[in-house]
Amino acid sequence: MSENPDESSLLELPPPRSASGSCTLELALSRRRSRRDFQPTALEPDQIGQLAWACQGLSDPRGLRTAPSAGALHPLGLMVATPEGLGEYLPDSHTLQVRSRRDLRAELTAACPGQDWPRRAPAIFALSADPQRVLMRYGAQRAARYLHLEAGHAAQNLLLQAIALELWATPLAAFDDAQVSRVLGLPEGHLPLYLIPVGVPLRQPGRP
Ligand SMILES: Cc1cc2nc3c(=O)[nH]c(=O)nc-3n(C[C@H](O)[C@H](O)[C@H](O)COP(=O)(O)O)c2cc1C
Repeated sequence: MSENPDESSLLELPPPRSASGSCTLELALSRRRSRRDFQPTALEPDQIGQLAWACQGLSDPRGLRTAPSAGALHPLGLMVATPEGLGEYLPDSHTLQVRSRRDLRAELTAACPGQDWPRRAPAIFALSADPQRVLMRYGAQRAARYLHLEAGHAAQNLLLQAIALELWATPLAAFDDAQVSRVLGLPEGHLPLYLIPVGVPLRQPGRP
């Protein structure tokens, strides 16, 4: 998947905060809003790491994650596109595996017909799924349902964590699947489920 051997490197992320934070859940719920206007400010590695952890990070020594997963099969994948490139989140090591050193945000935006706002987000998270991980256990019909339910759980974690970090995050699903898969370099058979552009708000959360 890498474009050259140098791109297979791992990026360490600062350890996530799992027991502290100044925003209550109630405040995050009441402030969550889909906003599409971001400052050009880049996200810091600790912000990217915290968002990735909230979405798919480990929260239990048995390998369980912050979002529930049917049968603990964990079929979801998480990537993040930033000006520096594309990284795949590896929950076990809380690192980013570099998949590309190109800024792919404009190409992802081009895969969203009629939408120009995602390109202004300093980070675009992408949730995908590997159906093979659940097909054997649950069969085609339930597997398809479970993948989408799991993406919803994971995405909502990310949206609420963004608010707690005083960032905006907006879910986006109106995209061309084949185009998004190509830009992300998803393996054959994997499904792109959600894009979530994230950025520093133009205005403070709770003060529209
Ligand atoms: C499954 C789903 C897909 C969505 N796709 C898009 C999208 O493609 N583009 C967009 O701008 N917003 C998208 N949204 C965000 C909705 O427009 C937004 O949630 C809605 O307007 C309600 O506003 P709120 O999120 O601030 O409550 C999507 C939301 C969901 C749940």
